[in-house]
Amino acid sequence: MTAKHFALQALPTDLVQERMPRHVAVIMDGNGRWAKQRGLPRIMGHRRGVDVLKRLLRCCRDWGVEALTAYAFSTENWGRPTEEVEFLMALFERVLRQELREMMEEDVQIRFVGNLEMLPRSLQAEIDRAVSETKNNRGIHFTVATNYGGRQEIVQACQAIAAQVQAGTLQPDQIDEAMFEQHLYTHGICDPDLLIRTSGEMRISNFLLWQMAYAEIYVTNTLWPDFDREEFHQALISYQQRERRFGKVL
Ligand code: IPE
Ligand code: IPE
Ligand code: MG
Repeated sequence: MTAKHFALQALPTDLVQERMPRHVAVIMDGNGRWAKQRGLPRIMGHRRGVDVLKRLLRCCRDWGVEALTAYAFSTENWGRPTEEVEFLMALFERVLRQELREMMEEDVQIRFVGNLEMLPRSLQAEIDRAVSETKNNRGIHFTVATNYGGRQEIVQACQAIAAQVQAGTLQPDQIDEAMFEQHLYTHGICDPDLLIRTSGEMRISNFLLWQMAYAEIYVTNTLWPDFDREEFHQALISYQQRERRFGKVL
């Protein structure tokens, strides 16, 4: 660990600190295409994608973004070839084990959203360890969506609320947006202000459906393994030029 790791990168002068998004969410797409373009197996794209995420996390912390959420594996991604799914699960586990020390040093608080019970047991154990060891860190809130599906999240919240109604501890008219939110995986995390999707796809692929209600969306054609600090800078410039109206007339 060198002191270089801790040298904060200053905010580019064309960005305004007061207009920075509090919460950035990313759909890290295009790993497979990046590898294919180079005649490499898809997994090489995923491997490189991890380094890109690490750098983005550090950049967010340096530039004063409070929270970063990354879509690592969707509920639909189980439909990929078994070798790719197994590689991803092993990759997540290895990265968590290897990066825990640096996350502590860089004051990162990690959490996971998604249906974690379906993940391999050894990965669940690494997740539990990383979440509990970093829980008091305050440098940046880093959320990883793993076996995450927005519809699944909403359905499990409905089930939990319906069980309370059935038990007689809750009246239907007590259900409102605020209480519903408490049953989502993301409770306690503010909604994303900016959603970035790489590789040019204009869709949200079941990511944070509830939470994305008023997120600003930025799509770049760059594939995730090529997404760098300058690309993030461009996304932030675009974000800072938007007028967020939230349905009102300004
Ligand atoms: C995103 O890259 C990573 C995951 C979904 C895990 P892809 O693997 O979807 O890459 P493309 O879209 O096939 O290029
Ligand atoms: C979204 O990417 C999921 C993740 C980035 C983890 P996909 O590649 O799975 O999405 P689609 O299939 O293009 O919608
Ligand atoms: Mg994809």
